[in-house]
Amino acid sequence: MKYKVKNMSLAEKGKFQIAWAESRMPVLMKIREEFEKTKPFKGLTISVALHVTKETAVLMKTLKAGGATVALAAANPLSTQDDVAAALVEEGINVFAWSGVNDEEYYWCMNQVLDFKPNVTLDDGGDLVNTIHTKRQDLINNVFGGQEETTTGVIRLRAMAEDGVLKYPMFAINDTPTKGMFDNIYGTGQSTIDGILRATSMMIAGKTFVVCGYGRCGYGLSNRARGMGANVIVTEVDPVKALQAVMDGFRVMPLKQAAELGDIFITITGDRDIITKEHMELMKDGAIIGNTGHFNVEINLQDLENLSKSKREIRKHVKEYTLENGKKIYLLGEGRIINLVAAEGHPPDVMDMSFADHALCAEYLVKNHKNLKPDVYNVPKEIDDKVASLKLKSMGVEIDRLTEKQKKYLSDWKEGT
Ligand SMILES: NC(=O)c1ccc[n+]([C@@H]2O[C@H](COP(=O)([O-])OP(=O)(O)OC[C@H]3O[C@@H](n4cnc5c(N)ncnc54)[C@H](O)[C@@H]3O)[C@@H](O)[C@H]2O)c1
Repeated sequence: MKYKVKNMSLAEKGKFQIAWAESRMPVLMKIREEFEKTKPFKGLTISVALHVTKETAVLMKTLKAGGATVALAAANPLSTQDDVAAALVEEGINVFAWSGVNDEEYYWCMNQVLDFKPNVTLDDGGDLVNTIHTKRQDLINNVFGGQEETTTGVIRLRAMAEDGVLKYPMFAINDTPTKGMFDNIYGTGQSTIDGILRATSMMIAGKTFVVCGYGRCGYGLSNRARGMGANVIVTEVDPVKALQAVMDGFRVMPLKQAAELGDIFITITGDRDIITKEHMELMKDGAIIGNTGHFNVEINLQDLENLSKSKREIRKHVKEYTLENGKKIYLLGEGRIINLVAAEGHPPDVMDMSFADHALCAEYLVKNHKNLKPDVYNVPKEIDDKVASLKLKSMGVEIDRLTEKQKKYLSDWKEGT
């Protein structure tokens, strides 16, 4: 066992957190029961870079129950729950993570989990895969394949595959419906609001709430903000998404126009430089800006620094910038993924789906890796169906089944009027 965490005396508290998550994650717990019997990862090593939360802990324990040696680092410098990290060490997981690591420590942790020589890698944002491909190429031959949790990571992987530099098969967990629907839409929608509330303790009703990006996450967030009484404005660059936002009843306009109107601005694009100097200069005194996209590049922090004559941390996760013209802008969570920095990320009910996909996909990968080329793969439909069916069962929801006649009708092109 190897590890480095903030404080092992937090382990007891972390165990309660994990137990709570386990009580909300019936699908993953069912898979754990199966893995305890079948041991699909016996003798194998899984290296992981995910947000170190109570929900991730349930996945780590499930992989270990399946026979794996597991080594875990964080996928974000600020998202580690230190009590959970300590509890996981007591559960026999090799954890290298603590909240508030600097850049050097972040990559040190990542290299520690890679020193375990993984057969499978689990990533959130692609930093693990990236490190293997650029700095730890000696490990590549040992890796059967990997899995990616989020949009930003999948974009990077597809670019690597296109350039012919991806060296092992990767599954895009992010793109499968039981992940994307639950996590990006419902999860990000609710937990981003949660992060904003915990950071600011402010009233959402009556505020003009600007959502930059109307992809899956932006759709979820806009609807949750509206549900809390906000007046929502959406900004987009994709005409189809913009049109969808209009049809969903939101005001859509360029960010330069919205900049003058908004009370709260949240970026969720996976892109860079969404909120820049030209927008900050137009914002109202007291405007709040935050990001819930994967990397802290959506708000141009350098521009904010350059425009400001002073700054102070007025509350935990809220920095007050006083601009040269006297106006104040409040930055949430240093521009990093706010639902994980100021709140606890997605609720366990949501991560139950994403992490059930990870667990079953890792089992599939181990069984089938010899037939897979270095490319980005979708999660097999049978895994998605199994995860959705187990979730419905846990909710006590039953559904109809296709009759043989219906199956034939739906698959036979000769059928008609
Ligand atoms: N906070 C979380 O817990 C969480 C959860 C899931 C995904 N994510 C991250 O959120 C980001 C978005 O994920 P998604 O699944 O919604 O992606 P998506 O591709 O479905 O949506 C992104 C949207 O942003 C738009 N966009 C791009 N550049 C823009 C610009 N300059 N101005 C306005 N809009 C712009 C795109 O047109 C697209 O519609 C990614 O970084 C992803 O990794 C975060």
